[in-house]
Amino acid sequence: MDQRAVRSGHFSFRDEHPNLGDGRTEILASLREHPKRLDPKWFYDERGSVLFDRITRLPEYYPTRTEMGILRENSGAIAQCCGVNSLLIEPGSGSSDKARLLLDDLRPAAYVPIDISADFLYESAQRLAKDYPWLDLYAICADFNAGWSFLDDLPPQRRVVFYPGSTIGNLEPAEAERFLERVAAVVGADGGLLIGVDTHKDAGTLNAAYNDSAGVTAEFNTNMLRRLNHLLDAEFREEAFEHRAFYNTDLRRIEMHLVSRETQRVNCGGEVLEFAAGETIHTENSYKYAPQDFAQLAERAGMTIERSWLDDDDLFGVHYLRRVA
Ligand code: SAH
Ligand code: AVI
Repeated sequence: MDQRAVRSGHFSFRDEHPNLGDGRTEILASLREHPKRLDPKWFYDERGSVLFDRITRLPEYYPTRTEMGILRENSGAIAQCCGVNSLLIEPGSGSSDKARLLLDDLRPAAYVPIDISADFLYESAQRLAKDYPWLDLYAICADFNAGWSFLDDLPPQRRVVFYPGSTIGNLEPAEAERFLERVAAVVGADGGLLIGVDTHKDAGTLNAAYNDSAGVTAEFNTNMLRRLNHLLDAEFREEAFEHRAFYNTDLRRIEMHLVSRETQRVNCGGEVLEFAAGETIHTENSYKYAPQDFAQLAERAGMTIERSWLDDDDLFGVHYLRRVA
């Protein structure tokens, strides 16, 4: 990836190597906690990103197609809110498929996809550059929960942050508030935030979305163990763990866990981790917000919702926010 500090024509790619440094220490520390947990950012190597992409096309996983419908149907009104000729910054851009729905109306001065999954980002950004020859593209492989100094070198246009997919739901509410505070600082008084947020709804719909019948979400979850084997030189056996996902109605979040099927000891590159049968590693939360609860979270972070678009069944919301004066 070192050779991938690429600049050619209207395309550039910069790798801040977000997974190096303290990754090993960080992962082992979270696995020593009680209960054991992992940061969901570790899902996303090349295989994890491909699996997530497959999730987005599953019949049970309504968020992607619902949000894309909202963006497609309202792209004109969305562009009016966001304004043309801005710097469009997408943290956690993945395939950039949603940005594609907006580019023609939004006509940004440049698009800045940011993702932790280096190879997947590189390939998605290259494809986008080919399909949109008029667009300046600055792809950055970075952790959006670390500093955002990578924005310092970018053109000085007005900034619009695009944060679709309800990726905000994967942050704890306090982290989500800090994330929004950071966005408010980054976009300033004249910019904005276009964000997709999954709504709190009946547990049946939510449980189905994270327990698909084809088993892709289970594969996505257990891919974390392969990742650990690679990153930590660990010896997790995928078949010794099972996928569990359920809606915690009190906390309004889907919880995803990897459950140990047996009592076992796992070698993690020299350190041995003990698992009781039934013990879990908590791999992800996906918080769901009623629109008024999300509005309150945003207010606490110094942002206010200017306009919202929901689908007819209120499954998903797209909101345009500005910094409070
Ligand atoms: N925006 C896309 C993808 C959402 S999936 C959509 O709406 O469909 C979440 C994306 O965020 C993945 O591509 C993942 O690689 C990325 N991601 C997760 N944690 C991250 C982090 N801490 N820093 C940067 N990117 C992250
Ligand atoms: C990326 N994120 C918003 C997805 C979600 O729905 O929380 C990740 C995911 N996990 C399981 N399925 C999808």
